[in-house]
Amino acid sequence: MVACPKCGSLLDVCYDWARLPVPKSLDEFEAKWERRSDPLCFSGIWRFHELLPFAKPEHVVTIGEGQTLLHASDGVAKYVGGRSGRVFLQYEGLNPSGSFKDNGMSAAFTHARSIGARRAACASTGNTSASLATYCSVSRLMKAVIFVGSGKIAFGKLSQALELGALTVQIAGDFDDAMHRVGEVTKRLGIYLVNSVNPFRLEGQKTIMYRVLEALRWEVPDWIVVPGGNLGNSSSFGKAFAELKQLGLIDRVPRLAVINAAGANTLFQLYEKQGVRWNGGKIDWPTVEAYYRKLDAAGRRASTIASAIEINRPVNLAKCLRALDVCDGVVREVSDQEILDAKAQVGASGMGCEPASAASVAGARLLRREGVIEPGDRVVCILTGHQLKDPTATVAYHTTDQAEFNRVLGSRGVRRATHANRAVAVANDLDEIIKAIQLYS
Ligand code: F0G
Repeated sequence: MVACPKCGSLLDVCYDWARLPVPKSLDEFEAKWERRSDPLCFSGIWRFHELLPFAKPEHVVTIGEGQTLLHASDGVAKYVGGRSGRVFLQYEGLNPSGSFKDNGMSAAFTHARSIGARRAACASTGNTSASLATYCSVSRLMKAVIFVGSGKIAFGKLSQALELGALTVQIAGDFDDAMHRVGEVTKRLGIYLVNSVNPFRLEGQKTIMYRVLEALRWEVPDWIVVPGGNLGNSSSFGKAFAELKQLGLIDRVPRLAVINAAGANTLFQLYEKQGVRWNGGKIDWPTVEAYYRKLDAAGRRASTIASAIEINRPVNLAKCLRALDVCDGVVREVSDQEILDAKAQVGASGMGCEPASAASVAGARLLRREGVIEPGDRVVCILTGHQLKDPTATVAYHTTDQAEFNRVLGSRGVRRATHANRAVAVANDLDEIIKAIQLYS
């Protein structure tokens, strides 16, 4: 069960902190690293166990997730218009399945183990399913059942689900359809649901923020910028900061920017255009419902090259509105063109990312241009998924083959590959090869 049977709202994990051993200061967590031969201290999630104390240590499922990096990128700082040393990329692609989803999956598996679940399911745009497949194949605790929209997930992610042995159900529809069906099926068959409607997933994802703070020597940045799809990540970040503040472990919270793709912009429309707010929990649901009815009447489906966030009905809308309230948040939309240009800049400046992840950098750039983010602000962009997740979009951006560019990207309204790094075609001839290298290097 993930929702209240009376009102239908998603469940939330609340702690009675007064009865729990809470650390006096955040740097107590650093001591755990010295004990990293213990898997609970090695894991980037369970090192912070005291801040997600729902689990008994003997139930914890960890496969070594959370060994991520916070990288100050001057190349990206220049691109977004921030000051050198002030723009950071949080590389969540370094997780075992290549995305931030492993943070939440470790927590959901821990809860599933505590209740003895044998099968787990999710609907996915690809990364949740890759993560579920990974945790099932490594831990052997549960069997994975995955619902994906047919033709809607990037090849890197689909290959993970197939190779790792998950039962993969391709639905003739998109993520929103798959999400609806997985809810029905898990209820009917009693299968454990690991989508981010599951509140334990969000508990695990809070740790992304703990690791960011740790890398900044426990200093709170000015901005966290994150792509928004189903809105689990943004929701968990808000919860992380609200709790740290409540516990007196930080004295201020950062501002939160959630970035939608323009082709999947429900949050942007509702929050920025229609003024829907958390409002102490009294959300204006009639406005939200009217928005969805309009989408349906117009037959509008989510559509973006950033397939990970190609979602029109974000299940965590309410919790995300709460996070935006806690963190004085803003929401922006960015085009597929802006996403791919930002992605090329991320790649050229260090480790690459998948299209959805680059929405954070494109969003930071937009907010800098608007003057919402100041040049000297400390900005952390969350790179949610690994570059190898979506080779099709990357190769199409850098290709010299115009037909391929048009097929994959032109149909999305992408007109230019401003930062393309094109392969150089040469004859199989030593002199020609040397000439080409001297010409281009
Ligand atoms: N970035 C990537 C790479 C993702 O895979 C997702 C979500 C998001 C951003 C958005 O995060 O949903 O917490 O707002 N992917 C889900 C999936 C929906 O099925 O893998 P969110």
